[in-house]
Parts: sequence; C-alpha cells; structure tokens
Amino acid sequence: MTLALFSLRRSLRRRLLGWLLIATAIIGMVALVDTWQEAVNTANTVSDRVLAGSALAIAERVVVAEDGSLEVDIPYVALEMLTSAAQDRVFYRVDGPPGTFITGYQSLPVVTQRPGEAAAFEDATFRGEPIRVGALQRSASTGISSVPFVVTVAETTIARRQLAQAILLRSAARLLVMIAGAAVIVWIAVTISLRPLNRLGAAIAERNPDDLQPIREEVPREVEGLVETVNSFMVRLSSALEALRHFTGNASHQLRTPLAVIRTQLALVSRAGTLEEAREAAAKSDAAVARAERVLAQFLTLARLNAAASGEAGALAPVDLLRLSQDVTADHVPAAAAAGIDLGFEGEGSARVAGEPLLLGELVKNLIDNAIAYAGHGAEVTVKVEEKAGAVLLSVTDDGPGIAPERRAEVMRRFVRGAREKAFGSGLGLPIVEEIAMLHGAAVTLDDGAVNRKTNRYGLKVSVRFPPVGAVAPGETPLSGAGG
Ligand SMILES: Nc1ncnc2c1ncn2[C@@H]1O[C@H](COP(=O)(O)OP(=O)(O)OP(=O)(O)O)[C@@H](O)[C@H]1O
Ligand SMILES: [Mg+2]
Repeated sequence: MTLALFSLRRSLRRRLLGWLLIATAIIGMVALVDTWQEAVNTANTVSDRVLAGSALAIAERVVVAEDGSLEVDIPYVALEMLTSAAQDRVFYRVDGPPGTFITGYQSLPVVTQRPGEAAAFEDATFRGEPIRVGALQRSASTGISSVPFVVTVAETTIARRQLAQAILLRSAARLLVMIAGAAVIVWIAVTISLRPLNRLGAAIAERNPDDLQPIREEVPREVEGLVETVNSFMVRLSSALEALRHFTGNASHQLRTPLAVIRTQLALVSRAGTLEEAREAAAKSDAAVARAERVLAQFLTLARLNAAASGEAGALAPVDLLRLSQDVTADHVPAAAAAGIDLGFEGEGSARVAGEPLLLGELVKNLIDNAIAYAGHGAEVTVKVEEKAGAVLLSVTDDGPGIAPERRAEVMRRFVRGAREKAFGSGLGLPIVEEIAMLHGAAVTLDDGAVNRKTNRYGLKVSVRFPPVGAVAPGETPLSGAGG
C-alpha cells in the first residue's frame, strides 16, 4: 500500500490513471447496481406476464358444480407454458370463497391481494426455494349467484435470475472494456502530453553550465508558470554570479596591489646599499602588509556577514551598543592622535540593541576608521550613542571635507572610493556598515556633519538608527535586564 502510494506520488501518469480508475470504478458500481435492478425488473415483467397467462387459463376452467361448489379441470398446457422455460418448477392452487381450498398445493403461499385488485405478484419461498407467486381473483357465475375464487400460480425463479445475471454480466464486461480502453487512452495521452516536458528537460540538460539565458522552449500552458519561475530564478542567479565575478575581480585586485608593493620593497631591501635604505624599504613593505591585512579583515567581515545573513550565526542577542562603541572609540584614540584628530565620545548609561557584537564592533570601527582617514589633520570627530523612544541612534560626526550630497548614494556601493583619497582603502567600509545595519534592522543615513570653523564647510555625519529592542525579529523573546 505504502509502495503503491509512493509510486503514485512520484509518477504523474500513475496518479492520473489512479484517479481515472477510482472514478470509473465508483461510477461503474453505481451503474451496475442500477443495471441489476433494471434487469431484475425486466425479467420479472416478462415472466409475470406468463404467470398471469397461466392463471387466466386455469381460471377459465373453474366452473360451479350442481351442488354449488366450485370445480376445476386443470389445463396442463397452461402450466407447460411456464415449465418450458429452463429448469423452473411450477406450482398452483385454486381457492374458493375465503377458507375453502379446492385443488393444487395446499402449502403454497397465498398472495394477499388488495381489495379490488384482480391480479397480484410477490416474491416468496416455497420448500426452501425462492419463488415468484402470481394470484388472480375471479368469480364463477351460476346465473343466480356468483362464487369468488383465487387462482395462485408460482414458479421457481431460476430462469429470471439467469436472465438478470446474464444482463448484469454483459454490462459488467462492457464496463471493464470501457475502463481498460480509457486507461490505455490516458496512458498514451499522458505520454504524448509529457513530451514537451521531456524536451524541456533535455534542452536544459544540454545547456552549458554558465548559460543562464532564459528558456525559450515551447511548453504547454500549464508549465508556463514553472518555466517563468525558472527563468526569473536564472536572471537572479546570473546577476548574483555577475556580482560574484565582479567582487572576485575587485577583491583580487585589492590584494594584488599590496602584494606587488611588498615584492618590490623586498627586492629593494636585498639590493639596499645602506641600512637606512633597507629600513625604509622594510617600513614600506610593512605598511603594505598592513594594507593587505586590512583588505583581508574586510573580506572576513563580509564572509561573517554572509554567514549571519543566512542564519548560521544564530539569533541576535542583547548588546549594549553604548559600551561597545565607547570601547571601540577608546581603542582608536591613539591612531586618531597620530593623525592629529581629536576623537571623542558622547553618551551615558547603556543603550541596548539586539545584535551580534563582533559585527556591531566592525560597524563602529569602519565609521571611526573613515573619519580618521578622511576628516584630515586637526579635525574633530564625535562618536555618539543615544536612546530615543526605545530606538538607539549611533552617529559618527566629523568636520572634515565631508561627501557631496550627490555622491552619498554612490559611496555606499562596494569598491567605490573617493577619487583623490591618499589613505589606503578598499571601498568596502560603508557597504559593510550598511549590510551590518540591515542585518540588525537598522537604517544608515549620510548627512552634513559639524561645521568646520576654518573652512566654514560641513563635514560628514553617518547615523545608524536601530529599531527598539524586540522589534528586530517578530516573535523573538523581548530582552531582559541581563547582558550588556
Ligand atoms: N568621514 C568621511 N569623510 C569624507 N569622505 C568619506 C568619509 N567616509 C567615507 N568617505 C568617502 O567614501 C569612500 C568610501 O568609503 P568606504 O569606507 O566605503 O571605503 P574606504 O574607506 O575607501 O575603504 P575601506 O573602508 O574598505 O578600507 C571613501 O573612499 C571616501 O572617499
Ligand atoms: Mg572606510
């Protein structure tokens, strides 16, 4: 049974056949029951007429004797009319006025006739055999008075049963042939109908693995939806592949540049005439190693982001973003001081968000890195975390050159950098910030920053607005007082 169901589920053809067979079997059963009833009725009508004929023949021989009693001279021909059919046996009885039996089989059941009814028929049993009984009510007349009598004729039902059975068998055979025919037709029809699908399958199988062109095969209308879905999936796949190719190209370029520098500087070291020259080359290659490290760190962050986005990193946990940002800011103070930048932090208490601490740390780090790298010597940079109506707002504001409003959308794209940047970078910082924010349900905006007193121009303010805790993923347990 399980096996049959299993194969039903797997084969469209078997499934269709199964449905057809079940449906025709049910309809067929109903039809057969109806045919059987009809056949029995027909057989009964035919032989009831013969029964009535025999009873009438007998009734005509009933006469009133001189003493007023009834007499009957059974015409055996009348009974032979019946016996000629099959192996059936015939019985009869004649009764006079109520209570008087005249002749025949006294134990033969009588048919209770409704008043005024001349003839009646009934199924009964006699000597353990099923019989059909017919009764005819008449009266014999003496001229003065009339004496009522009933002629009862019965017959075993072998012939009529055989007739009904023959009719039923024929119908059943016809039905079976019909079902078998329909099954063959369905089998062939399904085979033919599935051909376009096979062609479609073959066309896809023949394709080059990187051929992501939409499928143009002619398919039945029912399959068009599937093909459209596959096509739109291929479009998405090809744009994802394109993005991946683009990324790989850019990424290898990003790594090759510092490696080429390292190699050149190492060659210089080996050829250096003085210790001074060697030191200089070594310092340059050290800086290049730092760049390569930076690029790799950004890639690692992206990989971690991918894992987190696909759910491998587990659910977000409560994180005190204020403490975290404060710590990251503190870590960057020496670097900021070295670049002549005044890096400060604003914010008190705690500000909890649902998040992944390592990624949130990367987010803050990238923003502070940018401010240190691009705000310029003497700039002032403020990292601020505040809680407003449950939402947590993180901002990094500087009074450096800023980013022109029309370029702000552009710098959010991977590998996009300012044209004249002297500081090393891979153009991944802001996209990483945005992706981490998105993962936390937060939104990033770039605005004018603090006004620079010397140049009178605005710097840059990057804000990240985190939704109130508990609103990140519906259904997540609201964060308790623990953590931070
Ligand atoms: N605070 C800022 N002030 C001025 N320009 C900025 C600032 N932050 C970013 N930018 C501009 O936006 C560009 C993109 O920044 P992003 O952080 O995405 O990449 P990157 O800093 O060049 O490289 P990476 O961060 O991956 O090392 C920078 O190259 C710079 O031109
Ligand atoms: Mg950056």
